[in-house]
Order: sequence, then C-alpha cells, then structure tokens
Amino acid sequence: MAQTDIHILKALLSNGPEFVSGNQLAQQLGISRVGVWARLEKLRDEQFDIEAVRHRGYRLSKEPDHINGRLIQAYLDLQGNSTHLHCLSEVDSTNSVAERLLANNEETPLVVISNRQTQGRGRMGRVWHSPDKGGIYASFAFRPRLPYPRLQTITLWLGLQICHSLHQTYGLALKVKWPNDLFLDGRKVAGMLTEARIDADLTRDLIFGVGLNVCSDLSQWPDAVAAVATTLQTHSQEALRTNHVAAVLINTVEKAYQRYLEDPHTEELLNLWQQYNYLDQRAITFERGRETHQGKVVGLREDGALLIQPEDGPITALQSGEVSLNSARQVENP
Ligand code: BTN
Repeated sequence: MAQTDIHILKALLSNGPEFVSGNQLAQQLGISRVGVWARLEKLRDEQFDIEAVRHRGYRLSKEPDHINGRLIQAYLDLQGNSTHLHCLSEVDSTNSVAERLLANNEETPLVVISNRQTQGRGRMGRVWHSPDKGGIYASFAFRPRLPYPRLQTITLWLGLQICHSLHQTYGLALKVKWPNDLFLDGRKVAGMLTEARIDADLTRDLIFGVGLNVCSDLSQWPDAVAAVATTLQTHSQEALRTNHVAAVLINTVEKAYQRYLEDPHTEELLNLWQQYNYLDQRAITFERGRETHQGKVVGLREDGALLIQPEDGPITALQSGEVSLNSARQVENP
C-alpha cells in the first residue's frame, strides 16, 4: 500500500494546483476508482487535505505538518533520489537508530528521520532538545571506507552545502558557526553531530546527524534553549512545508556526500566558507588546553581548522573545540 500512496502523492504533487483525475490514477495504479478513493481517505486520516471535485478529480490543498515518510519519499522520487528512508514517529536518537541499522548490515546510504527524539544527543554529551512539533531530526549513515583524515572536513562541507541549498531553495540566509552549528539571524537554527567508527586505518561507517528547527513553537521550549534558538519559519516569507524541507535536506546531504567521496573539493569548500561563514572577522573566545584566549577569526585552513589572530601572538589554527562570540548571546542547546 505504501507504494500506491507514494504514487498518488507524486501525481498530486506534480500537478500542483491542477486536479488529477480519479480515473487516470486508477488506471495507472491498476486498481478501481473506489480503491483510489479508499487510499485518499487513508491519507486524509494522516492529515493530508485532499479536495475532491466531481468530474475534475483530486487536488492536494494541505500537507501534514509532521514528518510523513510517504510524502518525503514522494518528494525524493520526484527529485530522483533513491536513498533508503527509515521514517519513525518517535525514536531515542536518530543517530542511535542509524547505528543499530548499520550493525544490522542494512544497505547504505540510509537516512533515519523522526518527529521526536526521547534521547536526542548533542555534542560533548549534551542533550538535544527534540520535541515533537516543528523539528526535523535526521541521521545519515554511510560506509565510506576511506582513511579518517580524508574525511576531516566532512561536517563543515555538509553544513555549508545545507546553508547553500536552503538559501537557493527558500532564500534563507543560514550561516555555519564553526565547527558544527547553523545560525540564522544570530541564533542557532540547527546542530550537526558526526560520529564515525574506524577499523584499523579505514572509516568503517559514518553517521551524520542533524537537528533542524523548521517551525517549532519556541514559546513551548525551556527558556534557556528558546533564548538562543530560532526557526526557519521565523525568517521565511512563505509557509514552509516540513516534509519538503526534509526532502531538500536529504537530497542535499546525500549528493554532497557522494561528491565529497570522490574528492574533498577543497576549493569549493573554501569558497562556500567565504559565503556562509558566521564568524568572519569576529572577536571570539576560545579554549586551548585549559586556557581561555581572545582573538579574531581570520580564515579557514584547508583541513578545516579555524584560523584565529589572538590578541597576544601569531595566527593560530584551532582544529577542534568550541568558540563563543564575544558580543553575542550564548548559543548552546543545553
Ligand atoms: C549539537 O549542536 O550539539 C549537535 C546536535 C545534533 C542533533 C541531531 S538531531 C538528529 C541526530 N540525532 C541525535 O541524537 N543528535 C543528532
């Protein structure tokens, strides 16, 4: 039945505001018109608004707000993407589910996407606030079979590509805050968490997790998290469709990953960095060892290290860790 629903959704989506005839759908699917009607009733139960007009057919007037696997699959099929999609209404953590699927020898690339996480994980052991309304929680699992140093800019690369794609598709001005936050108008809109398992000198598998606030109701969030967060919808003129955003995200990450596998595209990475770098020339505080330093961000090294001009010495390269802006709100999802 899933394939039938996906076919119907693809027909409705690709006809946009036009009606799709019930007869035509029935013929394409090899089922009766009553059969088509029954499937549409099921879709209506899943919060699709589908108009029906006698002698004209059916038209999709509203999509569900929450993550819907069939709808995402329909969008992905229309974009020619053939990933293995695992859509679940609630999970502990999409990264953990992806890990278990890899251990189960599932085929890659695969994506786990969910409406809600009960144990969403952030960097450095933090919790990722993952309520069930308006967020996308997604993890991508790959088996790159490359030496780990070859993958050292992967998170930055994927983050920059996400910024670029959301800018191209929705006109949203996202920026990467090194190393793995996405910002919009000075607030955090997404976080990325990459986890890898390394065998001898090869990366056996790699999981890239991303949590994105699409149209979350921040008034329901804990104050400390809401104070530093924003959503895509807050900055968009058009009403965003969560499942469309999810499909754009999936397609972007998978294509960018495939390209990165062939070549790390250093020049493109540095160009994207120029375009989508949140920290450019800004005064920051950073930690080295146990010491805290002040400096100004002056660039990115080819291996993804942040180049900083400290107040008291020569330019230094920060390979990992976190930095905070001296003049801004603190930006963590605690
Ligand atoms: C951070 O900013 O600390 C990184 C947050 C990463 C959150 C995402 S949500 C999807 C995936 N599953 C998780 O448990 N974490 C990542």
